[in-house]
Amino acid sequence: MSEKFVVANWKMNGSEALIATFAPALQQGLAAMNGRGAPRVAVCPPAPFLHAMAGRLKGSAVQLGAQNVHPEPEGAFTGEVSAHMLAELNVAVCIVGHSERRQLFGEDDEFIRAKLMALHQVAIEPILCVGETLAEREAGEHEAVVWRQVHAALRGLEVPGDLTVAYEPVWAIGTGRTATPAQANEMHALIRRVLSEQFGDDAAARIGLLYGGSVNAGNAGDLLAQPQIDGALVGGASLKPDAFLAIIHHAKR
Ligand code: PGA
Repeated sequence: MSEKFVVANWKMNGSEALIATFAPALQQGLAAMNGRGAPRVAVCPPAPFLHAMAGRLKGSAVQLGAQNVHPEPEGAFTGEVSAHMLAELNVAVCIVGHSERRQLFGEDDEFIRAKLMALHQVAIEPILCVGETLAEREAGEHEAVVWRQVHAALRGLEVPGDLTVAYEPVWAIGTGRTATPAQANEMHALIRRVLSEQFGDDAAARIGLLYGGSVNAGNAGDLLAQPQIDGALVGGASLKPDAFLAIIHHAKR
């Protein structure tokens, strides 16, 4: 991948007031990089703020992202949002399979696969999150777990379409503890192999692989310099425009 991709995952944080300051600051920061290899950037606010964020980002290259989707197109699913609804809001990317959804909301591989297929149908690019827990890593199962998660989510898909995969070791999310650049690169290489098996080498090479888990301005440079790391999925450090822009700077070509 020639262009890096940096994604803000606001999780259940933020407000219209934050969007009003964050969006212009982000656009100004990116404009200042103009013509100097600015990476692809997306921001995923909570669903109630998608519309406000879309308005504030209008005319900029920053893409709008959602954090979740329900696989069904419509129906009696109180509290849920469908892929069609996200498409109407001009959502370009959507996080699926985040470890918080897997752990706190009981989402399994099959449900994640169904979400991915629903996004595929409306041409919203999924950002498929995978990653092992600390116990799985300590038991030496990290490669098997991630292999299974990628494989299960993509089962039956013949062409990847627009797809991004994020490796987020659960023990590194919000903990201040990151995988070392070498550990992350190794896991990304494994994910690339799974993608190659399914889609062939050329298609697999075009799929962006993001690292996520306590990425900040201090560690982003080393992580993004790894050959298999095509970008970052940023949680905590994406809530402040300065901190997020500093990470984006490290992703410049
Ligand atoms: P973090 O979150 O950067 O706060 O660790 C990353 C994520 O969960 O996507």
